[in-house]
Amino acid sequence: MQDIRVERTKQPKAKPADSDRLGFGQYFTDHMFLMNYDAGQGWHDPRIVPYGPLQMDPAAMCLHYGQEVFEGMKAYRGPDGGVVLFRPDRNMARLNLSNERLCIPLIDEALGVEAVKKLVEIDQDWIPQAKDTALYIRPFIIAVDPHLGVHPASQLLFMIILSPVGAYYPEGLNPVKIYVERHYVRAVRGGMGFTKTGGNYAASLKAQDEAEKKGYTQVLWLDGIERKYIEEVGTMNVFFKINGEIVTPALQGSILGGITRLSAIEMLRSWGYTVNERKISLDEVVKSAKDGTLEEAFGTGTAAVISPIGELMVDEDRLIINQGEIGPVAQRLYDTLTDIQNCRIPDPFGWVVRVDQ
Ligand code: COI
Repeated sequence: MQDIRVERTKQPKAKPADSDRLGFGQYFTDHMFLMNYDAGQGWHDPRIVPYGPLQMDPAAMCLHYGQEVFEGMKAYRGPDGGVVLFRPDRNMARLNLSNERLCIPLIDEALGVEAVKKLVEIDQDWIPQAKDTALYIRPFIIAVDPHLGVHPASQLLFMIILSPVGAYYPEGLNPVKIYVERHYVRAVRGGMGFTKTGGNYAASLKAQDEAEKKGYTQVLWLDGIERKYIEEVGTMNVFFKINGEIVTPALQGSILGGITRLSAIEMLRSWGYTVNERKISLDEVVKSAKDGTLEEAFGTGTAAVISPIGELMVDEDRLIINQGEIGPVAQRLYDTLTDIQNCRIPDPFGWVVRVDQ
């Protein structure tokens, strides 16, 4: 594995005073990781340097054609003072899945994990301590060739930045209101929906903006072809508990394979729940809400963790789920997942990785 060179800042920044009010992604730490790719040379020069602006040619390809991928993960400090990551190997594997789809040269996944560990270790004093906070980690890759022809880049930059964060939604663990989107679609099979690339999020902004103006936190996407099947919610995968069965849309190429989604499925199955990854139509959800068999709905995501859904707006129909309260499954998932991530309980799954090991 290549050695990661380190240049420490001589001017550490003041940390946010109030770790109860961090919001999401508003503060950045003292250092960042960079590594370049040049055709013929491969990925080279991995380094950690003081955090700061990039110098980039205005013709850099990522600025024009969106050849870009990213990841989201979190670091936590346990009660014994040790700093841990949650399933970082999964994030690096997914980064390469996105890379492959976007014609970005694959990275060495072990080096990616090592870079995260080293950067987090250096900036560990930025890990916030208030309840439900963490240090959010944002690895990303951008195409930087100065070139306006549309083709895969031959020069790229892999970077990692860190941000102390609180809850993603202002609601925290209180149930969110979700607007079912009929008009806009996020992705179709064969497109890039399964990748973490900026374009998917750009495609979501219009619907998100309109939903927020109507008083909703996020939108629920339907499939782009039949507009019938449930895909995912804004920044989360989605689960429904209907008549005892827990259902989440199967990964069929247009939705993101969330790591929190996977962990929730594994945890629920270990507790004896039936969890099915399958097609689920909006009609099935509406019917179950009306006949009283829809017990719970919740989203999962790195940023959002577990977010109960208290209301679904379907056309003119307001469907209230579990009286607008968090349900027992979402609560247990949230408690257990965050207890494991923060090392408050033993991790029976082997998901937690110390940064100094
Ligand atoms: C995450 O959950 O890490 C995400 O990437 C969602 C993000 C776009 C805020």
